[in-house]
Amino acid sequence: MADRLSTALARAHEALAHFAPELVCKGIWGSPAGKTLLAQRIVSEIPEHRVYVEPFAGGAAVFFRKPLAPGDNVLGDKDRWNIELFNDLRRGRGLEGCGPNGFPATKAVFERAKKSKTACSKLKQSMMSFHGDRKTFFKSNKDTRRIGQQKLRKLPLYGKKLRKAHLVVGDFSKTMRRFDSLDTLHFLDPPWPLASGYSEQFYHGGTSAAARAKTSTKNDRKAFDPHHVMDVSSKMKGSVFVIYGDHPDVRAAFVEAKKRGWKIYAQKVTNSSGVGMRKVINLIAIKPPGALPKRKSASKRKRPRCSGRSC
Ligand SMILES: C[S@@+](CC[C@H](N)C(=O)[O-])C[C@H]1O[C@@H](n2cnc3c(N)ncnc32)[C@H](O)[C@@H]1O
Repeated sequence: MADRLSTALARAHEALAHFAPELVCKGIWGSPAGKTLLAQRIVSEIPEHRVYVEPFAGGAAVFFRKPLAPGDNVLGDKDRWNIELFNDLRRGRGLEGCGPNGFPATKAVFERAKKSKTACSKLKQSMMSFHGDRKTFFKSNKDTRRIGQQKLRKLPLYGKKLRKAHLVVGDFSKTMRRFDSLDTLHFLDPPWPLASGYSEQFYHGGTSAAARAKTSTKNDRKAFDPHHVMDVSSKMKGSVFVIYGDHPDVRAAFVEAKKRGWKIYAQKVTNSSGVGMRKVINLIAIKPPGALPKRKSASKRKRPRCSGRSC
């Protein structure tokens, strides 16, 4: 009975994917500091656009939530793992073992998934790991219950939407420049500043074993500097929407950006910290279309001194 029900549901989702390819849905896998829980709210706040660029895509929670842009839709990430997974999903490749019945969330399944590079193993790794870091088994899943049914049932829907997107492996600045125009919207959810004690652990460019596994060059860390991210963004013709967790380095970069014409605001939200829900502050900066004036040189800028989480 249960099998017949899940087969019927899978068929219904396939039909939906066929007839309503733009249907919005939740991000498929969590990535560190991903915006799955916030995506709906972000979508309602981003400016109108014809071309959509998400150059720090991660799990692309906002792309999956929003309707497709009428022009190009672009997902970029420096982490090849991410983009190759999107590519496999849109081709429906390597998904054996990720059927609509989900999979048991056990350490053994997780460890096996870490040794394989198929799309299904990657999904398992990501769904079972702490903050989506792909390395650390999420300890609260000690039982053998099956997980992932809801999302895996919708795989055809994700694949359909991904087939409409350009997928790019590379630094955010290159991706932004390549697809920039006056009617482009760049949505940026960059890695947190290094001093937050977060990016070191999880991201491409960080220093922990999990992060190092994703890194190719030292230059990758430039993207962890909010001043650099805001500088690159200020040069774009299109509008730019940037969202960060609250941090002194981000505040300093946003204060400067405001002087150059960016609109800045803070948002109090309930977020998942990996072990439950908590209230956090997000800082948002929006640049209107058109390039902005240059900022002062680095030596004239006052930068907050901080190290570790407490700064
Ligand atoms: C905060 S996460 C994005 C989360 C995403 N919004 C989501 O919904 O899951 C930041 C992403 O930036 C990527 N990244 C780090 N350095 C980068 C760079 N220099 N250029 C492009 N992407 C980069 C990381 O691999 C990570 O996927």
